[in-house]
Amino acid sequence: MKTIEVKSRFHNYPIYIENNLLKSLRDYLDVNRFYVIVSDDLIPETYVNLVREVCENHLFISFPSGEQSKSFEQMERIISIMQDHNVTRDACLIALGGGVTGDLSGFVAATYQRGIDFIQIPTTLLSQIDSSVGGKVAINTEKAKNSVGNFYAPIMVLIDPLTLNTLPERHFNNGMAEMIKYGMIYSKPLFEFIESNNVKNHLEYLIEQSLLIKKYYVENDEFESSLRQILNFGHTYGHAYESLYRFEKYLHGEAISLGMLRVCDNIDIKSRLESILNKFQLPIFDEATEEMLLPYVKKDKKNRKDALNLIVVNEIGKASIQKVIK
Ligand code: GLY
Repeated sequence: MKTIEVKSRFHNYPIYIENNLLKSLRDYLDVNRFYVIVSDDLIPETYVNLVREVCENHLFISFPSGEQSKSFEQMERIISIMQDHNVTRDACLIALGGGVTGDLSGFVAATYQRGIDFIQIPTTLLSQIDSSVGGKVAINTEKAKNSVGNFYAPIMVLIDPLTLNTLPERHFNNGMAEMIKYGMIYSKPLFEFIESNNVKNHLEYLIEQSLLIKKYYVENDEFESSLRQILNFGHTYGHAYESLYRFEKYLHGEAISLGMLRVCDNIDIKSRLESILNKFQLPIFDEATEEMLLPYVKKDKKNRKDALNLIVVNEIGKASIQKVIK
């Protein structure tokens, strides 16, 4: 088992990474607690059953899978079910699933009766290496992704890399885009490891390496005043692609792949980035023009009053924040 401790202004919390962890949940959870387990309707039933069996006292809430569920409507629905069941402040919410589940139910946990404990059990590569750690929870509005949310740290993150065996290939590759991003912004060795190995044979190691990078940014700038913005390399245009196509054409990581390429000026880096994205069937071209993307780029949360903050990589493993005057 690998353990990473994340320091947070809320409370420090552990991340446990272990093959087959879902089968030994009793070792991690306080079985006497009341849990609200939230999952989408596409999660394999076996995972839900494993958690439900261990949490004897629980309320299970399912919601329709997909980015569209990160909405006021779903949030209100989940809260209303919790209220109908008289869920009290000492309950703990378990977010079981991918990034949408963690973001949506984490925001419910952050706001329900001014905040209840929550545990992340991410079951997709993207949520295991990124969204389950760092405390960002949010929903979308019609106008912009993640525009209503908060920072709210989980009390624990439980990762079972074997859940990735049931993940469709497109969704596995979706997570690889974020891992490639970590290599681009912080670690040339990680980038080169991904380039030259069969990643599926090294998942525990790669998840740990990715999370150590995430930990560095989160611990040094938890509320994203500056440094943490670097984690958003590729996201300014990535979010613009997602919004332009109303979250229908691309998965998050696919849009981020295009977003990373869009801000890459150096020909050598761009060509290496294209090759590694190709290795995971991630998109490297989209016909959208700058003019079509700009309205969405302007809504990016990294923007300040008179400048756009763009994350750039001039050398693999090193990123910086570039101010572009509006
Ligand atoms: N996914 C970027 C961050 O957590 O800051």
